[in-house]
Amino acid sequence: MAEVRPVGIAGLGRYVPDRILTNQDLEKIVDTSDEWIVQRTGIRERRIAADDQVTSSLAVLAAQQALEHAGITAEELQLIICATVTGDQPFPATACRIGCDLGAKNAGGFDVSAACVGFVHASQVATNLVASGAYDRVLVCGAEILSRILDYEDRNTCVLFGDGSGAAVFTPHDDCQQGEYLGGSMSMEGGAEGILSQPAGGSRHPASADSVAQRLHFMKMGGTRVFRFAVRVFAKLVRDVIDQYGIDQLGCIIPHQVNQRIIETAMEQIGLSMDYVFCNIHRYGNTSAASVPIALREAYEAGRLEKGKLVVMPAFGAGMSWGHTIFRW
Ligand code: COA
Repeated sequence: MAEVRPVGIAGLGRYVPDRILTNQDLEKIVDTSDEWIVQRTGIRERRIAADDQVTSSLAVLAAQQALEHAGITAEELQLIICATVTGDQPFPATACRIGCDLGAKNAGGFDVSAACVGFVHASQVATNLVASGAYDRVLVCGAEILSRILDYEDRNTCVLFGDGSGAAVFTPHDDCQQGEYLGGSMSMEGGAEGILSQPAGGSRHPASADSVAQRLHFMKMGGTRVFRFAVRVFAKLVRDVIDQYGIDQLGCIIPHQVNQRIIETAMEQIGLSMDYVFCNIHRYGNTSAASVPIALREAYEAGRLEKGKLVVMPAFGAGMSWGHTIFRW
């Protein structure tokens, strides 16, 4: 029987590209308005990767900050997991390129494809590998260049998403003394894959001139169904944590930065103040797998991670998948 030991977050990092795409910029591209976007989503601007950047380049910059924060070198890493749906290419795994560019000569690597829940799922894989004693230093990245799969003729989707990356290093809690992993969940509702997807480019609909002509290589979404689903599961996940630990333990909720209105509606249903929530959606939009780790690093910098209190990260998205992680800071 393998050893089970407490696991902590030794380091956090985030990176967002310099280029800013504002709502006013989008008004010139599609039939939309700053007022509509802000009212429905809270988003004011989002970041767009430079032409010469790929998803691994964004991830490497976040990872370097996380490694520095953790005080370990890339060579000390044993495993790299990259959560992404916009990897550098379908294969090999983007984690392999990240490892190579970081100089992580002693690490293995693979990707996790779980869209907006990717970082939360990958973190649970990492924490459980460290808890078992099999690994001591695991890097998890959440990185996306969603702008490369957005249809800038489709106002239903192109206003919502942006590019960015975040990273976390997991080690035994004894080695870092912060961010102790307490638990989490991974769930899905099958049969709803079509609500939010990139229809072409896989075995169901291989890339072809026809798939491109039909714009099936771009993201498609049924917004209203996603909205209802996200509010429902967000509220349930947070209620369950409060039932288990008590409201006095709750420090900060760092949800997937999906949409300000979804977050506010769920918090209203739970009956909790928005003061518990860390949000940066107005600056970055929805960055899928990158949203939670970017917000986590920014919450850390803003002093929102209170010693001894719970940090809860609920996430939800394509699949439809959802899950959460709980850490005691
Ligand atoms: N600008 C202006 N109008 C837009 C628009 C935009 N960017 N995008 C959509 N619309 C239009 C639609 O075409 C539709 O027009 P119609 O009624 O003439 O057909 C209308 O707005 C829909 O309006 P409404 O029903 O008020 O929208 P909504 O309140 O449902 O908000 C979303 C739309 C997309 C913002 C909302 O459904 C949502 O946030 N869904 C979740 C999306 C998400 O977060 N996905 C990622 C999950 S990980």
